[in-house]
Amino acid sequence: MKKQNLVVVGGGSTYTIGMIMSLVAEKEQFPLRTITFYDTNADRQEKIAKATEIILREKYPELEGFYYTTDKEEALTNADFVFVQIRTGGLAMREKDEQIPLRHEAVGQETCGPGGMAYGLRSIGDMIDLVNDIRHYSPDAWILNYTNPAAIVAEALRREFPDDQKLLNICDMPAAIMVSYAGILGKDVFDLVPEYFGLNHFGWFTKILDKDGKDHTDTIKRAITEDGFIPEDAEIANDPSWIKTFKQVEQMVTDFPEYLPNTYLQYYLYPSQMVEKEDENNTRARQVINGREKRVHTLADQIIADNSTENVELEVDIHGRYMIRVAASMAYNNGDIFIVMVENNGTIANLPDDAMVEVPSLITNRGPKPLAVGHISTFYKGLIEGQLAYEKLVVDAYYENSYEKALQALTLNRTVVDAPRARKILDDMIDANKEYWPKLHANKKAVTV
Ligand code: NAD
Ligand code: G6P
Ligand code: MN
Repeated sequence: MKKQNLVVVGGGSTYTIGMIMSLVAEKEQFPLRTITFYDTNADRQEKIAKATEIILREKYPELEGFYYTTDKEEALTNADFVFVQIRTGGLAMREKDEQIPLRHEAVGQETCGPGGMAYGLRSIGDMIDLVNDIRHYSPDAWILNYTNPAAIVAEALRREFPDDQKLLNICDMPAAIMVSYAGILGKDVFDLVPEYFGLNHFGWFTKILDKDGKDHTDTIKRAITEDGFIPEDAEIANDPSWIKTFKQVEQMVTDFPEYLPNTYLQYYLYPSQMVEKEDENNTRARQVINGREKRVHTLADQIIADNSTENVELEVDIHGRYMIRVAASMAYNNGDIFIVMVENNGTIANLPDDAMVEVPSLITNRGPKPLAVGHISTFYKGLIEGQLAYEKLVVDAYYENSYEKALQALTLNRTVVDAPRARKILDDMIDANKEYWPKLHANKKAVTV
């Protein structure tokens, strides 16, 4: 097996140490020659990198080199794989994305509704620059992007790099949900084969099979409605917010029992309930700053202080393992089936060809080969078309500097709906994002009656 040179862009991310532990756990499936971190924030990256150095010394002694840098040429030259996990504006801007809509009684969420639009308009430019840089220094590297909001980033990258066959956008949520299904069934998550369709953070499992072809869908539905549904992956199992989110799946399966929903559908199907539950002074961003970020930084400090991992507990989570299994299937042409984002081109027969859809695909060394879904029925088609139009309009707004397209996007979104409210949210978001967004051309003011 050829050993890979891996670059992690966003080395300072809160997910990096988990990813390193997953790389250690998956070294047989995805053996590495070198790991290089790249980040624009030297301090944020350094702490994570210093801890990583110690982890790798102990647990990956066969690795030929570990490097970290803020120099993109040094980082991106000679890469086989580049994992991208950046956050333009950081968690501080995530907090604003979530607070602003809440002030107008709309859902405040990182990737859904107005928050997703704000984050998308910040991320697109950086992501395009990054892919251009990677292609300049490593034209043949595989790029695995999971930077959010993945749906909007994927649509922008599709437009910007239509011929790039080695760029894949991916989300861990379907896999994290499948970890809980595996718990219900007493099986390993990688022994389950999903049938699924939708957009990123906006899809449904239609079937869960095992590798022998046995259908477990009804058992899972019954277990969810009768016994409840809980997160089981290590990263989220003890997180009160994720516990609530998984609990909401019980409601979704009770109301709409045909398919098993992605957890993110709660924001679109129960927006008023979501707004009621939220606290502007303690949105998810604040919880992450006080939770995951603090936990990871404390862990890194401890490893560095001890010059060892002996006093810390290091966990492997599905996020890293999933990305790595997909990468391995691309590197070694395993043809494993994973849910990823691809251009539709007939996969979901009654959706547009140019939609970025999220579907199970055979992952090969020629890229993902999506498995046909066929026609979807009216409820799902209607929901998806509205969401897809929102995503496309956000990307249009970026390219056309169009206030009107941004306003249309928000008005269309199920978490907003009301045009005057969409305008108020948009205006507040323009103010908050001055440093990051393209300048949107002004449109006539709201008419006062
Ligand atoms: P974070 O802010 O802790 O980490 C992001 C890192 O990227 C920071 O260290 C930052 O300095 C760096 N960075 C920002 N812009 C950069 C640029 N242009 N070039 C290089 N480095 C840059 O954020 P996080 O919470 O750890 O999340 C990282 C990203 O991964 C986010 O986009 C998050 O939404 C995404 N994510 C996606 C999924 C998924 O399912 N798709 C799952 C988990 C995390
Ligand atoms: C899931 C989603 C990601 C999201 C992550 C963390 O894994 O698929 O897209 O970034 O959750 O969300 P949180 O709200 O915990 O930061
Ligand atoms: Mn995701």
